[in-house]
Amino acid sequence: MKQCLIGKKVLITGASGGIGRATAIMMAKEGADVALIGRNRVKLDSISIEIAELGRKAPVFEADVTDADAVNRTVKDTIEYLGGLDILFCNAGVYLRCPTKELTLGEIRRVMEVNYFGTLSAVYAVLPYFIEKKSGSIIATCSMDGKKGVPPDAAYVGSKFAMNGFFQVLRQEMKEYGIHCGIICPARVDTEMIKDVECPKITPKFSPDLVAKAVIGSYLKKKKEMLVPYFSCHLLTWADALSPTLGDYLVKVNKLGGTDTKN
Ligand SMILES: NC(=O)c1ccc[n+]([C@@H]2O[C@H](COP(=O)([O-])OP(=O)(O)OC[C@H]3O[C@@H](n4cnc5c(N)ncnc54)[C@H](OP(=O)(O)O)[C@@H]3O)[C@@H](O)[C@H]2O)c1
Repeated sequence: MKQCLIGKKVLITGASGGIGRATAIMMAKEGADVALIGRNRVKLDSISIEIAELGRKAPVFEADVTDADAVNRTVKDTIEYLGGLDILFCNAGVYLRCPTKELTLGEIRRVMEVNYFGTLSAVYAVLPYFIEKKSGSIIATCSMDGKKGVPPDAAYVGSKFAMNGFFQVLRQEMKEYGIHCGIICPARVDTEMIKDVECPKITPKFSPDLVAKAVIGSYLKKKKEMLVPYFSCHLLTWADALSPTLGDYLVKVNKLGGTDTKN
């Protein structure tokens, strides 16, 4: 990929670290201007400086994705500042590892608020603009946890399955408006989010750059869904579709789940 995003205008939620940061920088290297959303101003500012050094614009917007009004304002400000918007990358998310019997409804709601409704607040903020101009791309970081439930992540898994389901419908409804909608489903990525999670050898943590490449690939090839890494994720998904018993068995023998309590 060489300068394949020249002049494109992008907005990324959860841009202050991990996958969001890696994608912002990779997209800027490909020629895009990138608006950065998150709550951590210090981290966002330092990424903005890095992007400015690449010769691209990177306005910073401090906003919590659970505040739909703030996200709406941010989208309007981004469109005004960058002179338009081509790609929305909904990436903000939180993780909760906790066995189901220990979870509270409040904890589950909190995860849903950020991962599911936080994604939708950004989607609904850009939708009228994309529908009017009959173009645009909405890409979201879902997860392999949105394809196959793995214990002890029920709260997180539920939020990512909800995202997956919403995007399946959204992409079909938005086709007539020329709007691309795609999800990225990574397995384990080496970021702050799962720094305390030990992974079995069969699913080692991989670089967030690999997810950033998938996001750009999703945009360029108008992909509906990208599983990262390709082979092992497809294998598990196909096995689970064939037989949930086989899917559960593969999770168990490969020790894909964990036994940790809340973190
Ligand atoms: N790491 C993995 O193994 C993995 C695997 C599959 C999918 N994912 C998904 O990838 C996405 C990015 O996660 P990551 O791995 O890069 O973790 P990360 O480094 O912890 O990044 C999470 C990002 O989400 C932002 N965020 C969290 N709550 C927010 C809120 N209420 N409002 C606005 N921003 C918020 C954080 O920014 P602030 O703190 O500045 O608000 C941060 O930029 C998440 O959706 C996650 O579910 C991760």
